[in-house]
Amino acid sequence: MNVFQAIKTRRSVRSYLDKPVEEDKLLRVLEAARLAPSANNYQEWRFVVVRDDVTRQKLMAAARGQGFVGQAPVVIVCCAQTDGHVMTCGQKCYPIDVAIAIDHMTLVAAEEGLGTCWVGSFYADQVKQILGIPESVPIVELLTLGYPAKTPQPTERLSLGEIVKHERWSD
Ligand SMILES: Cc1cc2nc3c(=O)[nH]c(=O)nc-3n(C[C@H](O)[C@H](O)[C@H](O)COP(=O)(O)O)c2cc1C
Repeated sequence: MNVFQAIKTRRSVRSYLDKPVEEDKLLRVLEAARLAPSANNYQEWRFVVVRDDVTRQKLMAAARGQGFVGQAPVVIVCCAQTDGHVMTCGQKCYPIDVAIAIDHMTLVAAEEGLGTCWVGSFYADQVKQILGIPESVPIVELLTLGYPAKTPQPTERLSLGEIVKHERWSD
């Protein structure tokens, strides 16, 4: 599968088989995160890989009861150990850098026949307490990972004409 095929194949998977993710596949997914680009190569991302069933049920509760968070055999809690770097453009580095790493993981997961779903709807204070994550470490997203129970339909996107402007901003 080439990169574009992985981009087109990836879906948000919210229903998982009761089947563990092989260690080598999990490592390959994590390796894709490790190789991601980051501002000034800061690499502030940190990942807590949760496979324990009891902990995953707690994470599900902290993710507003989204059932697939407890169903997925792996939840990757995507954090940052950050000095709070801000780019000249005014944007913080770590949310962007962690997001790129997550996207790398979703694409390699797709290549491996695994499903993922980004989860931003969670109470960070609860997740920190469950996993012993220090107050100073922001949690950017959770990422569920596992074999899809079914393949979701593709979701709608705006057309290129609606999102691309040429040479200057135009309405
Ligand atoms: C930053 C971010 C946060 C998200 N948070 C959630 C979430 O909490 N729960 C959920 O079910 N899906 C979540 N999603 C998945 C989106 O709903 C999904 O990507 C979008 O509807 C497009 O569908 P697709 O991923 O299948 O292409 C999130 C996606 C992103 C990128």
